[in-house]
Amino acid sequence: MKTQVAIVGGGPSGLLLGQLLQTRGIDSIVLERRTKDYVLGRIRAGVLEVGAVNLLRQAGVGDRMDREGILHDGTIISYGDEIFGINFKEHTNAGVMVYGQTELTRDLYDAREATGGRIIYDVEDVQICDAKSNTPYVTYTVDGVAHRITCDFVAGCDGFHGVSRNTIPDDVRVEYEKVYPFGWLGILSETPPVADELIYASSERGFALCSMRNPVLSRYYIQCSLQDTVEDWSDEAFWSELKRRLPKNVADKLITGPSIEKSIAPLRSFVTEPMQWGRLFLCGDAAHIVPPTGAKGLNTAASDIYYLFNGLAEYYQDGATTGLDAYSEKALARVWKAERFSWWMTNLLHRFPDENQFDQKMQAAEIAFLRTNRAAQSVLAQNYVGLPY
Ligand code: APR
Ligand code: PHB
Repeated sequence: MKTQVAIVGGGPSGLLLGQLLQTRGIDSIVLERRTKDYVLGRIRAGVLEVGAVNLLRQAGVGDRMDREGILHDGTIISYGDEIFGINFKEHTNAGVMVYGQTELTRDLYDAREATGGRIIYDVEDVQICDAKSNTPYVTYTVDGVAHRITCDFVAGCDGFHGVSRNTIPDDVRVEYEKVYPFGWLGILSETPPVADELIYASSERGFALCSMRNPVLSRYYIQCSLQDTVEDWSDEAFWSELKRRLPKNVADKLITGPSIEKSIAPLRSFVTEPMQWGRLFLCGDAAHIVPPTGAKGLNTAASDIYYLFNGLAEYYQDGATTGLDAYSEKALARVWKAERFSWWMTNLLHRFPDENQFDQKMQAAEIAFLRTNRAAQSVLAQNYVGLPY
């Protein structure tokens, strides 16, 4: 088989790239290790920056998001019983769109199917070959049968556990990592959200987050130990711990119900450099991971796709490689800022097993500063709604 861009991985990064390319008549094939149902079964964050929203519209997949997504002009932070808001609109003239990643991925699949884009599921043994030459190719098997795709470029959109990153030789690749000593236990429940905006809650018992998907579907998280399993947490235990971490007036309003999903995710910051090697370009989770505090995962993937798409569009329009040559540098410059913000928010709001009283005082002082200082609020707002592309 032959295509212009072989896309390894059919998560949000790969699918979004495929749709954007399609708008310029650039052909791609998406290779996905799992099935569509498996990919759609994964629950991830649900907050989109302005840049991601615009890119989805540009890709022709913004209609349902614009109808069903909820615009948020700010967020709420609580610290013990203290609670305050940060108004994004006031500081940045922008807001964020709350729209579940599962829905967005579904829209991307629907668009790919409607436009006749090729996706091959259940692929195994994917290998990216000759990426340093002008004639790269990708090999894989399906049901034990070997296949090969020749292409101009390969987009490595296969997530943290994919094969793309490791295609770049060890002596070229530099990896930066920080693993946090806790995880997030999350539940989805068919209950109305406790507030109109997200609440990021820091308490003596640890962090909690009140988020939502729509007026009748809520998403809540609590910081948990890395040793915990979902079996350790009944719904009742989850709700009771969540309430203890929220200000009393919020906890009293919380409507609880059975969970329809429950999972634990570890927290990690990770970046690999460079994000390009020859004709292979890494995008999204294949190149970087952020802890979920601040919801930057999907948004950072979207900015990678923006830079790569523009580089490819330029190449196919007039043969110039300026955008492609600058891809790694441009993408990484923005990635590192999102890494910094997620790391900062994680440090600000969580309890660390080895923290001492001094560390706690530092957190309290930083929260107090944020609560009253407009410049500090503006920094948070600018980062949360998303730095410019
Ligand atoms: N071959 C083909 N596909 C693969 C391979 C492989 N060897 N390895 C992994 N994949 C697929 C996975 O099954 C998954 O569907 O690549 C996809 C990668 O998707 P994500 O992990 O969602 O990564 P990405 O598309 O970059 O998404 C970035 O969305 O999913 C979130 O946490 C993620 O918020 C981040 C953002
Ligand atoms: C979510 O809704 O799942 C969510 C929202 C904000 C975050 C993380 C997760 O920072």
